Amino acid sequence: MEPTKTLAAWQSECAKVQSALAEAGVETAADLPTLEEVRVRFLGRKGALTELLKSLKDLPLEDRKACGPQGNALRGSFEAALAAARARLEDAADAASLKKDAVDLTLPALRPPRGRLHPLTTTLDAIAGIFRRLGYSWAEGPQIEDEFHNFSALNIPDDHPARDTQDTFYLQDLPRLLRTHTSNVQIRAMEKSKPPIRIVCPGRVFRHEQIDATHSAVFHQVEGLVIDEGVGFADLKGHLQAFLESLLGSSTKTRFRPSYFPFTEPSTEVDVKCFFCPGSGCPACKHTGWIEILGAGVVNPAVLRAVGWDPEAWSGFAFGIGVERVAMLTHGVRDLRDFYANDLRFLRQFDEDLV
Ligand code: DAH
Repeated sequence: MEPTKTLAAWQSECAKVQSALAEAGVETAADLPTLEEVRVRFLGRKGALTELLKSLKDLPLEDRKACGPQGNALRGSFEAALAAARARLEDAADAASLKKDAVDLTLPALRPPRGRLHPLTTTLDAIAGIFRRLGYSWAEGPQIEDEFHNFSALNIPDDHPARDTQDTFYLQDLPRLLRTHTSNVQIRAMEKSKPPIRIVCPGRVFRHEQIDATHSAVFHQVEGLVIDEGVGFADLKGHLQAFLESLLGSSTKTRFRPSYFPFTEPSTEVDVKCFFCPGSGCPACKHTGWIEILGAGVVNPAVLRAVGWDPEAWSGFAFGIGVERVAMLTHGVRDLRDFYANDLRFLRQFDEDLV
């Protein structure tokens, strides 16, 4: 191809581009879009520097050799200036955003919301904890139970009203029921071991109850069982008195009232002096001055026989404590349903430690 451009013409165009570059303000560009505009003006497809470099091919071969490096040097220094300016603007943008989003490290931290144990859990733990310190170990049993472990082995006769469907939830297609008390664990634990035994069994129990302020279809009990040589009613009194004083305070007044349970003989219900009124009578103690807190008794020999333990060699006592009952008394809660409503305003009142 014939050259169409002279050396002088190219040199003059080159000088023009050079001075235009000098005035383009690369070093002083205020922001990245402005810098991009300058780049496109010179190095875009139709940019002045692009055109200059393209026109090298129109020079005679000799001149092309001299001007080529000159053109490339011009592009090199422009690109270097662009890169330096871009780095400067990016640094400035980073610094500005850091400043905008700056965190004041001297401010006090936000407190994350703290969970608490449910008052029934702390009550149950407190009850079990006292017995653990008296040397009892922890035992558990099934909530879905058969009639033998829930009733028959506990000397509850076939025609006892507690077995009625009005009181007990039976499973539809199985000979099973939801345990009505934790006393089933007495039988389960004795079947699994040999005497002596000293256990507490906390757990959930179920009764076909009309639900109101003091009754629930699902509630919790802590069962206790001690079997050893020569254990009798005096031991029962000693352990339960120690338990109640530890739970409610050393000045707690107790009353052991005769009662009846098929699985104990003799049987007793234990009352504590009402601590809402100092014994003078109020709605909480139904104006008697006393509040019933647990059932207990000397284990009926029939129960030992049901698990094959010799009642001539071994004897003991058992007790059952209602966890909701204790929690209501120790926390001054008047309606049992509050424990299950999961209303945080109610639950936040209780701290982890009991009484
Ligand atoms: N099982 C009884 C109930 O649910 C409570 C109870 C009373 C348990 C006396 C016992 C006991 O172990 O000896 O009402």
